[in-house]
Amino acid sequence: MKKHIAVIPGDGIGPDIIAEAVNVLERVATLYGHEFSFEYLLAGGASIDEYGVPLTDETLEKARSADSVLLGAVGGPKWDGMEGKLRPEKALLALRSGLGLFCNLRPALMYKALKDASPLKSEIIGDGIDVMIVRELTGGIYFGEKTLAVDSSWASDLMKYSVEEIERIARKAFDAARKRRCKVTSVDKANVLETSRLWRKVVSEVAKDYPDVELNHMYVDNAAMQLVRNPGQFDVIVTENMFGDILSDEASMITGSIGMLSSASLGNGKSGMYEPIHGSAPDIAGKDIANPIATILSAASMLRYSFDLDREAKAVEDAVEAVIDEGWRTFDIASKDERTVGTKEMGALIRERIK
Ligand code: IPM
Ligand code: MG
Repeated sequence: MKKHIAVIPGDGIGPDIIAEAVNVLERVATLYGHEFSFEYLLAGGASIDEYGVPLTDETLEKARSADSVLLGAVGGPKWDGMEGKLRPEKALLALRSGLGLFCNLRPALMYKALKDASPLKSEIIGDGIDVMIVRELTGGIYFGEKTLAVDSSWASDLMKYSVEEIERIARKAFDAARKRRCKVTSVDKANVLETSRLWRKVVSEVAKDYPDVELNHMYVDNAAMQLVRNPGQFDVIVTENMFGDILSDEASMITGSIGMLSSASLGNGKSGMYEPIHGSAPDIAGKDIANPIATILSAASMLRYSFDLDREAKAVEDAVEAVIDEGWRTFDIASKDERTVGTKEMGALIRERIK
């Protein structure tokens, strides 16, 4: 199979972790007889430095014409003072919306060997944690009208959802649940927000097409609490953009480390954007200590969702699990006395184990 992949390393640890993910993809290509070509693009702070804006139209166009996009992370203190439109994060939002990637899959999966890295007590973890967060990614308060009064005495962000936007993300969630444990928890704030009341109504309507999937509704404050009280109750969580942003950070931490969790952003077509859910961690950039696993697992998701290469995706995921089971740790997932390896060594260990 021949595929053209747009690679956006971004800022901070972005280039460190992307290098390892690309190496893994090259290894897969060699082992399985595929041809992957990589085109490197600038976005975020790197693009601001080069072109004065977080994302140029040409970059967006190149990302659009690629078979899929692999992204590291964007942002850093260097660009923190910039106005909203020019912040590095704006590149991410413009890519998501420009590529029509309304569905963000964030699996929070605990590796058994990493149980000790979780801040939760083992009786709460029970048999392990395996939650799929399905986050709406191109609507809601992130994309509603933004206003700052001329004299800066007030500001507002509009939270808006259409029936169509809710319906399509709900379908993605129910489809995902069918491949898992057939349970969807829709998270909203319907006791306060009009958008949430519409969300609840539309999700309940869509549920009628999925009689085999169990649906329940939960307020977001309760969901935040339930995630640390009894994470085992969740299979698929579907929620709007900002709630999903917040809950996915929480869900990642209870699995042990934010450095382990991948994400896939999908639209109606086959192409998607794949990135770790963590940020650019500028304090550890270039030091060869960042955990590349979230990005490597994101590359595995690309193989699965965009290229339909399930066997190859599984081979990468198994290699990650093997390395973890053998006790190899980057510093973020190491318990006190465990010896740690750096970014490059972790990447190499995983590569060697891909069968
Ligand atoms: C994420 C990040 C982004 C978001 C930021 C960097 C804009 O936190 O992908 O979760 O809020 O979506
Ligand atoms: Mg976030």
